[in-house]
Amino acid sequence: MSSPATGPAPPGPAGGERGLVALVRNFLRTLSPRQAATVWAEDWIGMLVRPIPGFTGFGLRWMLYRVLFARLGGLPFIYKGVYFEHSYGIDAGSNLHVSAGAVLYGRGGLTIGDDVMIGHHATIYTSQHHWGLGPEIPMIRQGHVSAPVVIGDDVWIGAHAVVLPGVRIARGTVVAAGAVVNRDTAPYTIVGGVPARVIGERPRPAIEADTIRPPLFDEEGS
Ligand SMILES: CC(C)(COP(=O)(O)OP(=O)(O)OC[C@H]1O[C@@H](n2cnc3c(N)ncnc32)[C@H](O)[C@@H]1OP(=O)(O)O)[C@@H](O)C(=O)NCCC(=O)NCCS
Repeated sequence: MSSPATGPAPPGPAGGERGLVALVRNFLRTLSPRQAATVWAEDWIGMLVRPIPGFTGFGLRWMLYRVLFARLGGLPFIYKGVYFEHSYGIDAGSNLHVSAGAVLYGRGGLTIGDDVMIGHHATIYTSQHHWGLGPEIPMIRQGHVSAPVVIGDDVWIGAHAVVLPGVRIARGTVVAAGAVVNRDTAPYTIVGGVPARVIGERPRPAIEADTIRPPLFDEEGS
């Protein structure tokens, strides 16, 4: 993905501790009080509930993340060791399953439909460092570029897959293990590889199949 032409103004060159303080201050300036409190809670309270096994763990994580997320529908199955960052930006439907080691980053806005499964160590990014302002400004001072990710209903994201900012994963998509998804997917496709390409198709609902079926007759009526 190319870096957009516009972006946040660079904080300006600064060295040593002053530079570090400026970085932290700039970071905090990008957050509302509610967002800053969420980032604190997902770190500190998240650390306590993240390793708890069994249904106690599912229950505690549900209680925490239904408060921190923009929305969390139904009873989710968030397994041990799942990391949510900037969870105020995550809006998730019902019956969400997220396996151990997955990392979901909500800073740029992450919308997840119903009946979505996210495999072990899968990672979803909704923001990235700006890198296009010029070599005299280190990337760490160039700010962030956000691009929301949308995941439709009935999606399965395989283990170790990476979903990049700005991507829309269509309803019914399977993302194969280890894929790097850098562009939108079509409904009911199976995508895999780096970068992800279509490697298969899933059965579609009848009504959807009707709409994609080629015409019985060509334009001449033959
Ligand atoms: C995508 C997946 C579901 C496909 O399963 P399948 O239909 O049985 O696939 P096949 O083994 O028949 O392979 C079909 C084609 O896709 C390719 N393929 C399969 N998995 C792939 C992957 N992860 N990455 C890239 N290509 C893949 C195969 O090489 C094959 O290509 P070819 O026809 O050119 O030889 C499966 O390979 C996969 O990645 N599962 C994810 C498992 C996982 O993450 N589990 C965690 C539990 S939440």
